[in-house]
Amino acid sequence: MATRSESAPRVRIDAGELSRGVARLGAEIAADYADRNPLLLGALKGSFIFLADLVRAIDVPCEVDFIMAASYGAGTVSRGSVDIDHLPSGSAVAGRHVILVDDIVDTGRTQRALIDTVRKLDPASIGTCALLVKNGSAHKRSGLRIDYRAFDAPEGFLVGYGLDLAERYRNLSDLCVLPDDDETHVKR
Ligand code: IMP
Ligand code: MG
Repeated sequence: MATRSESAPRVRIDAGELSRGVARLGAEIAADYADRNPLLLGALKGSFIFLADLVRAIDVPCEVDFIMAASYGAGTVSRGSVDIDHLPSGSAVAGRHVILVDDIVDTGRTQRALIDTVRKLDPASIGTCALLVKNGSAHKRSGLRIDYRAFDAPEGFLVGYGLDLAERYRNLSDLCVLPDDDETHVKR
């Protein structure tokens, strides 16, 4: 039987590298949105650590709000549908330059659902931002454009720095990959 240490998450992008990547992205967003007071809309829960670091790397006026999006349940495979909850009010979004911030883009279904939802609130513009984008992932086929990305996602199911498996591992400072056998530890 696998022991806990055998199935420990393995570091793929350490905290220092994450910090440098997020700082680069923040500077890029600050330059592009200098006079627009963007509203960064973080997709909970996975973006909470990324967004906290990102806003501190944006040295122009900006505001923060959150939206809840869930598609994975307790496993490592998307359910295929996205539940959206806790929307900011329409008046908070109307006329604003919104940047949707998520932890990771895979199929792009989550970002697409967020875009469709926010569009109905009549923003001035919608930008897309993710810490990680899975390379060669299906989001490209749907024509989804990710305007700001910090990293191409390493292979495998990723946890840490806000990303979870069934709510575990969000607290890891590094971005890690789970060994394949780890799902056996998840209670469904
Ligand atoms: P998509 O809708 O297929 O693009 O998946 C994006 C969402 O699924 C993200 O907001 C994450 O919450 C979750 N997700 C996708 N891949 C991973 C992963 O490797 N680790 C943790 N969560 C993931
Ligand atoms: Mg998520």
